[in-house]
Amino acid sequence: MSTSRTAARMKRIVPFYVMDLLARAKQLEAEGRSVIHMEVGEPDFVTPETVIEAGKNALYAGHTGYTAATGIPELRQAISDHYARSLSISVDPARIIVTPGSSGALQLVMSVLIDPGEEVLMTDPGYPCNKNFVELVSGVPVGIPVDADTNYQLSSTQIGNSWSGKTRAVMVATPSNPTGTVVERDEMVRIYAAVKERGGHLIVDEIYQGLVYDKKGYSALELADDLFVINSFSKYFGMTGWRLGWVVAPEAYVESLDTLAQNLFLSCASISQYAALEAFSPQCLSVLEERRQEFRKRRDFLLPALQEIGFQIPVTPQGAFYLYADSSRLTADSFRFAYDLLEHQGVAITPGKDFGIHSPDKHVRFAYTTSIENMAEGVRRIKEFLSR
Ligand SMILES: Cc1ncc(COP(=O)(O)O)c(C=O)c1O
Repeated sequence: MSTSRTAARMKRIVPFYVMDLLARAKQLEAEGRSVIHMEVGEPDFVTPETVIEAGKNALYAGHTGYTAATGIPELRQAISDHYARSLSISVDPARIIVTPGSSGALQLVMSVLIDPGEEVLMTDPGYPCNKNFVELVSGVPVGIPVDADTNYQLSSTQIGNSWSGKTRAVMVATPSNPTGTVVERDEMVRIYAAVKERGGHLIVDEIYQGLVYDKKGYSALELADDLFVINSFSKYFGMTGWRLGWVVAPEAYVESLDTLAQNLFLSCASISQYAALEAFSPQCLSVLEERRQEFRKRRDFLLPALQEIGFQIPVTPQGAFYLYADSSRLTADSFRFAYDLLEHQGVAITPGKDFGIHSPDKHVRFAYTTSIENMAEGVRRIKEFLSR
């Protein structure tokens, strides 16, 4: 008998296709080829200097041990203060649980809410790991196809139509990965009502909060206390590698989340937590605002440039740093297209296949996590590729 048998769920948890593409891109670069990276979902800016300093200071101050599983009290308070200052929302720090990235928060929330066989509704396309967090607890992820008609987001009507006797929760991400679109506040109110009417839970992933370009963002925390809001230091704060996020939970769930966090993680990295205290300082926030403006410029450059060469992007994404482009006028197979583009022109983008099963062949994702100069060169190369 084989000793390498894995649990059945592992058959349903697939790796990112883009990782293979990234490995190939690295190989090409090692061979001396130039590659324009528009596949990477993390800011190209390093963590702001003042946060790095705070991290160094934390080390020398001896903050090298475990902390409380829910996070150091100063950080929970600082996150609460940030909601009050930036969005005028009052959040009890006791409801804020600091986690190893929002990935840690998503694991905790799914584990606390979902029993085997229960369904979680989410968008297709969507962030690929969401499905796997549900698989991990033997739940059933249900992808609902979304397109330009609903801004590539779930609508309350779709939620109503997809609800079954087994549905337990709905996940939305605003702004979203891979589409960069937001759920308008009015629609979020309707979504919340649709979920609550049916006795379910709403989980809102706000990891790209702060990276909204055309109007002031909001948080679903404005609407009610009995929903789960996930956030992270990764994207807006430029701290992907520090592995720090948080969840704001309904009071009744804090104890269970704490118990689980103790068991799964013991605590988050202490150094990261002390460094993150500095992330909310006026000095750091002004650096982050400059970066937000830069991302907006990049979006405003890349969107028309891609449309001009034949990609269709029917709604202007309002946030994050992604453009989810319909490539069907240019290719019938976006997966092959992404590979050929890399091989022939040294341009790396993410094929739609990574984000779900709803028309993945017709879509690719561009991340504007590189300079306008690089993107201009990328677009030039794609144009050349298309005219061959
Ligand atoms: C929508 C969304 N949620 C969650 C995550 C996880 O990020 P982290 O664990 O770094 O906070 C990502 C990362 O790309 C994401 O795009």
